[in-house]
Amino acid sequence: MGTKNVNAIISEEQNDNSLPVLDGTLGPSAVDIQTLYSRNGLLAYDPGFRSTASCKSSITFVDGDKGILLYRGYPIEELAEHSEFIEVAYLLMHGELPSPGQRKQFDEAIGYYNLLHEQVLSFYRGFRRDAHPMAIMVGVVGALSAFYHDVMNIRDANDRELAAIRLIGKMPMIAAASYTYSVGRPQRYPNNKYDYASNFLQMMFGAPNREHIVDPVLARALDIILILHADHEQNASTSTVRLAASSGANPFACIAAGIASLWGPAHGGANEAVLKMLMEIGTVENISKVIERAKNKSDSFRLMGFGHRIYKNFDPRSLVIQKQAKKVLAHLGKEDPLLEIAMRLEEIALKDEYFIERKLYPNVDFYSGILLRAMGFPMNMFTAVFALARTAGWVSHWLELQGESHGIDRPRQLYVGKTLRHYTARK
Ligand code: CMC
Repeated sequence: MGTKNVNAIISEEQNDNSLPVLDGTLGPSAVDIQTLYSRNGLLAYDPGFRSTASCKSSITFVDGDKGILLYRGYPIEELAEHSEFIEVAYLLMHGELPSPGQRKQFDEAIGYYNLLHEQVLSFYRGFRRDAHPMAIMVGVVGALSAFYHDVMNIRDANDRELAAIRLIGKMPMIAAASYTYSVGRPQRYPNNKYDYASNFLQMMFGAPNREHIVDPVLARALDIILILHADHEQNASTSTVRLAASSGANPFACIAAGIASLWGPAHGGANEAVLKMLMEIGTVENISKVIERAKNKSDSFRLMGFGHRIYKNFDPRSLVIQKQAKKVLAHLGKEDPLLEIAMRLEEIALKDEYFIERKLYPNVDFYSGILLRAMGFPMNMFTAVFALARTAGWVSHWLELQGESHGIDRPRQLYVGKTLRHYTARK
């Protein structure tokens, strides 16, 4: 092992040693190092992928320094204000907003495929009653690959579209069933008189012994949450889906892999972790202790909902969510002391040198837990809602990847283990 500096590998001169620089339509250019190993016998080392563009993509663009997020070119704020999740899902999948005719067809397809096979429901009974909904979702979505495998040819564009529609269509019932199972309530079915978000709410909170009226303010707030979480370029879970898909794996299995990756507290699991943290803080007076803990390098504690690999400015999604949280609480006539703690925590952190220097701002998860809790979602469903939304992004990336021809994704490594040695039995 050792380090030495190599200057000649990447040169701007167009000689044999130079590597091409690829320009995108927005964002930093990328050095194309595909021939680095064959020409120079060197690998690129980038654990954590801080400087690696793993693919070309035309779905989502993030400018983390300016706090910009675009889906197919449209700013997230405009989509959250004017669009609906299903329209956004179509946009992510197809690249353009649907015409009224395309939208109708898409709605009908989602409505046709939103039921779960009855045998899938029996699968739920194998889980412990207190299983985390994300554990159930990983299992159930993976299990769907057994239902749609032989009948599906991923080389056929129609089959691919159908798989994507099935996933978006079925995910609300899959997520709601993982909750109703845990509380011992009968599973509810989708009803196509409802829109996508309302359907999910009635499956989550309805019961067979009473009529459930979906509150339109809550349905709209949920739809906005789904739009905001629908895609975020090559994050850990999306990259996981792409990596799994590069081997030609069944799409349901690929999305199950994405759900597993999303679950961790550094990724989608942060919304649950934020709420637990705010509850532990308990009162505004305790905030400074938590800030000190977050800054203490000998303590592994991090301020949950703060910081982002790409955003070094406000995450534009957190601003929309904070506004929605206030709106929903006011609509319901509720007060949540956790909102006050969160806002005060944000204010203090944003003035603290530690957070300023490292450009740590509230991310999408900082206020989403407060909003979801106000809407009645239990804490362990927060990440499941994220997974439901992100399915639109995952399937769009899965579709995009099918059109690529670079073969299986197979990273290399810098081997730092033992050199060759020969077997002798240990005494
Ligand atoms: N609290 C305290 N310090 C932090 C935090 C935090 N939340 N986030 C980063 N830092 C510090 C970190 O200790 C490091 O300090 P130093 O330079 O002194 O070693 C510096 O900031 C850079 O951190 P990093 O670990 O290199 O940053 P990263 O890009 O690898 O991590 C992150 C990004 C989101 C994993 C991290 O900020 C974090 O753990 N945040 C809390 C968890 C969270 O909110 N996750 C949700 C992310 S957004 C939704 C999603 O992607 O699903």
